[in-house]
Amino acid sequence: MAKIIGGITTSHIPLIGKAIAEGSQQTPYWKPFFDAYPPIHAWLEEEQPDVAIVFYNDHGLEFFLDKKPTFAIGAAEEYHNADEGWGINTIPPIKGAPELSWHICNQLVENEFDITICQEMKVDHGLTVPMQLMWPNNSYGHMKVIPVCINVEQHPMPSPKRCFDMGKALGDAIRSFDKDLKVVILGTGGLSHQLDGERAGFINTEFDRYCMDKIISEPEALTKLSIRDLIIEAGSQGPELILWLGMRGALSNNLEVLHSNYHYPISNTGAGTMLIQEQQP
Ligand code: DHB
Ligand code: FE
Repeated sequence: MAKIIGGITTSHIPLIGKAIAEGSQQTPYWKPFFDAYPPIHAWLEEEQPDVAIVFYNDHGLEFFLDKKPTFAIGAAEEYHNADEGWGINTIPPIKGAPELSWHICNQLVENEFDITICQEMKVDHGLTVPMQLMWPNNSYGHMKVIPVCINVEQHPMPSPKRCFDMGKALGDAIRSFDKDLKVVILGTGGLSHQLDGERAGFINTEFDRYCMDKIISEPEALTKLSIRDLIIEAGSQGPELILWLGMRGALSNNLEVLHSNYHYPISNTGAGTMLIQEQQP
């Protein structure tokens, strides 16, 4: 059967893609951020997962404001990135895992999560930057990826609890897939940030650290928050935390945090990076 070996949280801001393209990882600004990743590289090298499920949000590349699925899941053979502006390079195509995607989609709909199934889908920085961070020099050719896209751009957005519950159903679906695959789940984005308006640049480090603690020890505390609470505490883009809750829902409660790093500001955000291993029974 397929098994989930762990989860990883990571920022997905586009400026990281630019830093990678320019080779600025060791400059004083970037080093404390990029230093969080070598332990994750070593773990991925050791564990060799077959599939990465990536919880992210699309910031306007595939879904603009005129069509905005609440939950969209990729079921394509391959995913492409495209120029989003920001001056960042596009990355080579990413391999899909359509058989597992269809299994997950069937199970989710069966369990009353009425997702949008995408047989074609462009993927933006929300997914591509994490891929570049996890597999440096675009060395992800061996990985199969399933994009799980949640609306965090336009109201109404799904609640933290709904995303956690969706993640749970997705985790159950993976564990019921009849192939010996090792699966890692990525929760991207966050933490606190506000990109425009009066509070542009707002970061709440105390709340960010609270979220990093609770996402492991008591995710139910985070599911009691509303989207409005997240905006107040973490800025207008703070609701990206629901992407982390999707990931967390797919994991068990038998977890070990192997590595954790918090650094701010990176661009306009507090960046939380965590490597979370499932303790196998
Ligand atoms: C930034 C953060 C994001 O999550 C994003 O999608 C785009 C930009 C930023 O801080 O610059
Ligand atoms: Fe974002």
